[in-house]
Amino acid sequence: MTLSKKVFVKSYGCQMNVYDSARMAEILAPLGYRPVDAPDSADLIILNTCHIREKAAEKVYSDLGRLKPIKSERGARIAVAGCVAQAEGEEVLRRAPYVDMVFGPQTYHRLPEMVARVERGAGAVLDTEFPPEPKFDHLPAAEGMSPVSAFLTIQEGCDKFCTFCVVPYTRGAEYSRDVAAVEAEARSLVARGAVELTLLGQNVNAYHGRDDGGAVIGLGELLRRLARIEGLARLRYTTSHPRDADEALIAVHADEPKVMPFLHLPVQSGSDRILAAMNRDHTAKDYRQLVGRLRRARADLALSSDFIVGFPGESEADFAATLELIRDLHFASAFSFKYSPRPGTPAASLDHQVPEPVKDERLQVLQALLREQQDAFNRQSLGRVLPVLFEKPGRHPGQIVGRTPYLHAVHAEAPESWIGTVRDIRLVALGGNSLAGEPITDPERISA
Ligand code: SAH
Ligand code: SF4
Ligand code: F3S
Repeated sequence: MTLSKKVFVKSYGCQMNVYDSARMAEILAPLGYRPVDAPDSADLIILNTCHIREKAAEKVYSDLGRLKPIKSERGARIAVAGCVAQAEGEEVLRRAPYVDMVFGPQTYHRLPEMVARVERGAGAVLDTEFPPEPKFDHLPAAEGMSPVSAFLTIQEGCDKFCTFCVVPYTRGAEYSRDVAAVEAEARSLVARGAVELTLLGQNVNAYHGRDDGGAVIGLGELLRRLARIEGLARLRYTTSHPRDADEALIAVHADEPKVMPFLHLPVQSGSDRILAAMNRDHTAKDYRQLVGRLRRARADLALSSDFIVGFPGESEADFAATLELIRDLHFASAFSFKYSPRPGTPAASLDHQVPEPVKDERLQVLQALLREQQDAFNRQSLGRVLPVLFEKPGRHPGQIVGRTPYLHAVHAEAPESWIGTVRDIRLVALGGNSLAGEPITDPERISA
């Protein structure tokens, strides 16, 4: 079939949205839609949105404003998907009445019907249900090449209800895909060229999927089973909650070399008072002990985390406890945010909201410390030889780029035939956003 229509999908927010966007594009292919990477010539524009902080949510409305002329000049259809669609529903249609479709993250398997309806001119579509049928059971198998490093959603939704967070409301209850479905998708991705898989979930280590024998297995066991796939060299998973890191998961870090020694383990705060108010259900000491156990399991494990400054009631002493935790544990990288009150979440109506200038100042102090640690971690990698998985050609001719186990971007002069393979590379210089690397063997002499 000829793909005569064009679809542009823009992802905001987390990696799960990136994964969902790719699946949406795949679902639309049988309807004649070909993905394009700019909105200007598209017949259908899908904004796959994020509601996690106010800034992310408001960005959608300013982008919609910019798309309005495209709609009126060329009659392109506009859809709002993802977490803003789920959380705000009709509000999106009220603020941007020219939008044709608004649908939540659990409905995108219904996209063909929704598009058909809009193409018939049957009016705007609003679908923010949590349908009883799991969307994963209704998605077509993907075709075509997959990237060298691919995402695979194994778990979705969240039952933790941290008091600052919208995810339990936008993504719904925790749901784990069956082991067989995950394995089949993993094998298909590897058969189509993936060498690294990143397992995704809002709370990926809460995974508890059913296998064919009816047993329920956790993330540790799932990683072991996926590691057996031939041609797969690397496994990662994100995002995990400190509460759900069990012995089996720690053990797989110790004895399965395909599981990368780099872990994103958000802690949010180093103050027990704030952790309790956030409903994280662990203390700073629990987190320190967990990191200790993980590092004993895998000595070269590096950590990344998320932090929130200015949660309601956060005092100078609470903030100092967060800095102390960072100084003690050392993070190779981190994301940090000012607390953003979200409608409908318990923390938004707490007293003692922290004034904006205080949040600004704390964020600066926190980020300076985290940057120092990240720079130290990167400097410490210089001169070392690390395995690099090459993913694509670089910006300059003769150059290819890839990643170390710690997700450093590395560029090196090496043959394109190395793309999709893991090579030992000496890291020789720090660039702006990437490290320069040198193959430790003469590339000409290697038969790749
Ligand atoms: N499931 C993950 C986090 C998903 S949201 C976990 O439990 O850790 C990604 C990050 O966004 C969070 O870790 C948190 O640091 C940040 N975040 C979430 N809600 C926020 C809010 N209301 N204000 C500021 N940052 C927020
Ligand atoms: Fe949000 Fe907490 Fe669930 Fe993470 S664990 S998605 S922060 S509610
Ligand atoms: Fe954002 Fe929804 Fe992901 S709120 S962070 S896109 S789960």
